[in-house]
Amino acid sequence: MTLPRIALLISGCGSNMEAILRSVDQGVLHRRCTVCGVIANCSDAPGLDRARAFGVETRVVPSDGLGTSAYGRRLLATLSEWKPDYIVLAGFMRIISPELVAAYPGRIVNIHPADTAAYQGPDGYGWAASQKLPETMITVHLVDEGIDTGPILRQRHVSLKGARTKAEIARRGLSVEHEFYSECLAELLDGRYADLVEGMMPRAGRG
Ligand code: GRF
Repeated sequence: MTLPRIALLISGCGSNMEAILRSVDQGVLHRRCTVCGVIANCSDAPGLDRARAFGVETRVVPSDGLGTSAYGRRLLATLSEWKPDYIVLAGFMRIISPELVAAYPGRIVNIHPADTAAYQGPDGYGWAASQKLPETMITVHLVDEGIDTGPILRQRHVSLKGARTKAEIARRGLSVEHEFYSECLAELLDGRYADLVEGMMPRAGRG
């Protein structure tokens, strides 16, 4: 049986990426998928060394000075070499171009550290801290052309009671993200969200 192939896209620490790589080795993603590679948009992303420690192929596809469409074309060139079935964003700080979304409809996934209905954009934990939220909601969603607007697969509450600093909020949130993302990906790979995926297909392709 050929397993679905996933490509991971990162910009920073890559702690979610590492949790996924661990899960593919020996967690819920084991025997559900293989990782064809990790792409970073900047050469100094600390996650690159973490990926190399797992023996995964890494590629830096620099985004400096490129607009969304031009960078999307650059990403597509690497991705069409790797031929992943799914693209998993793990702290990837670039907007995904409409062309890339169209090339992988319903097959690009993201994790967002807040309820996407309440907050879109970077630094969701900083937002939670500034709003003094008593709880936040980690969201795993399919990627569409908007910023953090795609169909939600699942959300999970994180209590922020007593968390006074952004660092403490992020620590609590990330410890949930690490397990939750792999769980959601396993469900996606099992076909649990077929309706949501179908909803992202171009109209002519819908059954
Ligand atoms: C996470 O909070 C994730 O939800 C957001 O970016 C952060 C990435 O952290 N999209 P890491 O690079 O996985 O440690």
